[in-house]
Amino acid sequence: MTAATRAIGAPLARLEGPEKVSGTAKYAAEYRQENMAYGWVVPSPVPHGRLRAVLADPSADAIAVLWHGNAPELAAADDPELAVLQSDRISYRGQPVALVVAGTLEAARRAAQVLQLDIETLPHEAVLRTDHPEVYTPDTVNPGFPAESSAGDVDRALAEAPVTVDVTYTTPALHNNPMEPHATIARWDGDDLTVYDSNQHPSGVAATLATVFGVDRVHVVTEHVGGGFGSKGTARPNAVLAALAARVTGRPVQVALPRQAMFSLVGHRTPTIQRIRLGADTDGVLTAIEHQAWSQTSRLYEFAEQTAVTTRHMYAAPHRRTGHRLLRLDMPTPRWMRAPGEAPGMVGLECALDELAEQLSLDPVELRIRNEPHTEPETGTPFTSRHYVDCLRAGADRFGWWGRDPRPRQQRDGDWWIGTGMAGATYPAMAQPSTARVRDLADGGFEVAIGATDLGTGARTILSQIAADALGVPTGRIRIRIGDSTLPQASVAGGSSGSASWGWAVTEACRELRRTGGAEAVFDTTDLIAKQEKEGRHAFGAHFAEVRVDAVTGEIRVSRLFGMYAAGRILNARTARSQFLGGMIMGMGMALHEEGVLDPALGEWINHDLAEYHIPAHADVESIDAAWLDEHDDQLNPMGSKGIGEIGIVGSPAAILNAVWHATGVRVRDLPARLDKIL
Ligand code: MOS
Repeated sequence: MTAATRAIGAPLARLEGPEKVSGTAKYAAEYRQENMAYGWVVPSPVPHGRLRAVLADPSADAIAVLWHGNAPELAAADDPELAVLQSDRISYRGQPVALVVAGTLEAARRAAQVLQLDIETLPHEAVLRTDHPEVYTPDTVNPGFPAESSAGDVDRALAEAPVTVDVTYTTPALHNNPMEPHATIARWDGDDLTVYDSNQHPSGVAATLATVFGVDRVHVVTEHVGGGFGSKGTARPNAVLAALAARVTGRPVQVALPRQAMFSLVGHRTPTIQRIRLGADTDGVLTAIEHQAWSQTSRLYEFAEQTAVTTRHMYAAPHRRTGHRLLRLDMPTPRWMRAPGEAPGMVGLECALDELAEQLSLDPVELRIRNEPHTEPETGTPFTSRHYVDCLRAGADRFGWWGRDPRPRQQRDGDWWIGTGMAGATYPAMAQPSTARVRDLADGGFEVAIGATDLGTGARTILSQIAADALGVPTGRIRIRIGDSTLPQASVAGGSSGSASWGWAVTEACRELRRTGGAEAVFDTTDLIAKQEKEGRHAFGAHFAEVRVDAVTGEIRVSRLFGMYAAGRILNARTARSQFLGGMIMGMGMALHEEGVLDPALGEWINHDLAEYHIPAHADVESIDAAWLDEHDDQLNPMGSKGIGEIGIVGSPAAILNAVWHATGVRVRDLPARLDKIL
């Protein structure tokens, strides 16, 4: 092995690990400023209405009470949710209607509690329904796909198919809960704005704040981030509110969202209703696939979850149709949450396939193998690499799948029914333009600078590995600078595209430095990425689950969960495994635990804290593992990598639900699979 290939793939520990475990790594809310004040967000108590007035209690110890009656005017951003305190219109419960600023957090909260809001309440609607007269088809779904697609004659093919499935699956509202809640500290020095903010895209947040406040110099510092899952992909209201309050009070201001506020303010996964119709011949070869998805958006902003888009890529069938419908509700705007589209959509598709396998008395792995496409099923574009069938076979081998009795409710161990299930997984391999700078420090070391963010996933670490190989030096000689909007501009840490996008720019900058032998090189990948074909680039995987269901109580335990992936070159075996497992555990939460429980009368998710919104705890995770094939794909980027941050949550919920059916004979089609739905 040469120095040029030594670092990539190694299980290097996170570079910032010692700082994190010793508590010296600084997160946004820890950049304490001199004379700092604290802002407390006052949420709307109603889902729809007009705010007439805000009456502050003069005895409360507030420096300022900001609301639309006195807040300075802001320029419009792309995201109307950032027009905070700009209008009397209330569009959802939990929307910020005022910000109380005080010298301590406690004083701000106290003053907020005694604030009186004079509100005209208007009628509201909070429930997603397919038969609502205002349901409509959006022009496109995220992030720009056509809302509908079709080929052949689905209705005729279904009418003629000897075996059909017609099922409706629903997924509930799911809430982003990164360990570190959203937080901002903002400080003005004249017209220069400095912001310490927890986000996935410092240069994006800086650009948005520059627009909103009409200034040129905004510096966003995002050194360490405790998770995001998409909820920190763009500036959230806390960033604008902190900067606004700092402008008005002339003091640095912190706005850190309490956990409860995050359920309405930072974006959640929309509930979905999905109807899937499949037609097959008696050998299990699909003739028709239809996937129709309904989801909600808000009155403020159209967010169209791309629930059925993944179905366009998975299986061959001559007759096919996908579609999306939206309904605007008086509810918070749904947003990005780990594998938006793929995660809910693959629940519908992969559970429906399991139901088809049941009807055909065919092994579910074999059913998928029989419907493997050779090119993109809807466009004919070749895949740069597709090793789905290899994942199915190798995963089944490793899990011990073969020889399984396909009939449900056959295996029992004392009080426990035991079952196994599987599902496919996929995620697009994307890259976005970024710029990197590398400097020869002349002491044997190299500084690599790029405005990327490390959400805790190991981005900093893999960039050092990529740079080391590109420069032909050990990783110990690389110094990585990220997490700052003044560094060369990088794309968002989202869409599982960070490593590919930033690693590409870093590789090219390092190569250029070696070529020129200079002291510094800068490389922008915009032109290279513009030349890439958009279709035919995906990571694939297969998820296998074993569950035990208590015959008396209905308690569901996931006794084994396994994922086998083909995701290009794996850049760091340790951090990649952690990403895969994290996604699978989140998938377990989606299958069994997580649900925003709506009170339609209040227009609110009533379980808005981690006491009542359940996520998997350590005790829920028994035996879990991930493995990957050694996949080579030289058409993607210089590293040959595909994204891995999201694929773990795609398919793992369906594998668990299919195992629950196999254990009990009960098809839970409305997530999550709680014990009351089993008994
Ligand atoms: Mo992720 S939802 O692409 O940040």
